[in-house]
Amino acid sequence: MVNLGFSIGDLHFKNPVLTASGTFGYGPEFDDFLDVSRLGGIVVKGTTLEPREGNLYPRMAETPSGMLNAVGLQNKGIDYFEKNIYPSISGYDTNIIVNINGSYVDDYVTLAERINTLDKIPAVELNISCPNVKMGGMAFGTNLDSAREVTRAVRAAYSKILIVKLSPNVTNIVDFAKVVEEEGADSISLINTILGMSIDVEKMRPALSTITGGLSGPAIKPVALRMVWQVAKAVKIPVIGMGGIMTTSDALEFLLAGASAVQIGTASFIDPQASIKILEGIEKYLIEKGFSEIKEIVGYINRTK
Ligand SMILES: Cc1cc2nc3c(=O)[nH]c(=O)nc-3n(C[C@H](O)[C@H](O)[C@H](O)COP(=O)(O)O)c2cc1C
Repeated sequence: MVNLGFSIGDLHFKNPVLTASGTFGYGPEFDDFLDVSRLGGIVVKGTTLEPREGNLYPRMAETPSGMLNAVGLQNKGIDYFEKNIYPSISGYDTNIIVNINGSYVDDYVTLAERINTLDKIPAVELNISCPNVKMGGMAFGTNLDSAREVTRAVRAAYSKILIVKLSPNVTNIVDFAKVVEEEGADSISLINTILGMSIDVEKMRPALSTITGGLSGPAIKPVALRMVWQVAKAVKIPVIGMGGIMTTSDALEFLLAGASAVQIGTASFIDPQASIKILEGIEKYLIEKGFSEIKEIVGYINRTK
């Protein structure tokens, strides 16, 4: 009835609803709640070369309309992923994207090379925007030269679809989008969390062990939407928008602003079926408005005066 599909390069997605890294595990954690294969794609937990324990507790704090986290890329590393996780998720009939992270450019390159060999992983999302790690992460995504260097190096080593995830913690997001596009990214995803902090006044100390952490959820949506709109107008490659998408209407705002697809993050913690409900809501909206293809609404506000 309605064609919800879109493509990044030669990679087809059956619909524009993906789940955001770090908020959906590897997929099986949600099997009891929804049919993961119905999603356009899942971006699995941030993966590093070596296992990481993450930061000390407390590493989550609630804030008005948002959540601060400082998980710090806790994961079991690429060897464990390859041996134990990959076989259990490669049967999903959806695009599985691995979110890759490192402290050095070579870490990203080695990870990308390893993932290049996994047949059922058609894309990586280069996370140059994690605010919760001591080395690497956001440091790459908040310096133009570093963003250029890491994207160039991974592009040279990785032949499948390369998505680069940008940090909102910069003055001019468009500069970063243009640099990663120039260096061969096939798509840009944004935004990662916004650096924030919270203090427990009773205990008279920071709410997070790391003092600062990444803010996600409804509180960041207007900032995310503004950045997605700016980036979508500035680049030719498809943009994947995220940041505070809780409802169908939120997702539609990102599509109308120019995102070809969306990722659902914090919403899945509140309602594990949020992604599927949003997918169904988008389809219903298109039917009601009389559109037959999702691409008719992508960037709609930029085409109308
Ligand atoms: C608990 C938690 C863990 C996250 N882990 C990652 C991660 O490993 N890699 C990454 O690129 N983003 C990570 N993110 C950021 C999300 O993917 C997303 O960019 C951000 O939360 C904004 O979207 P939202 O407001 O819909 O949650 C994490 C977010 C949360 C809340």
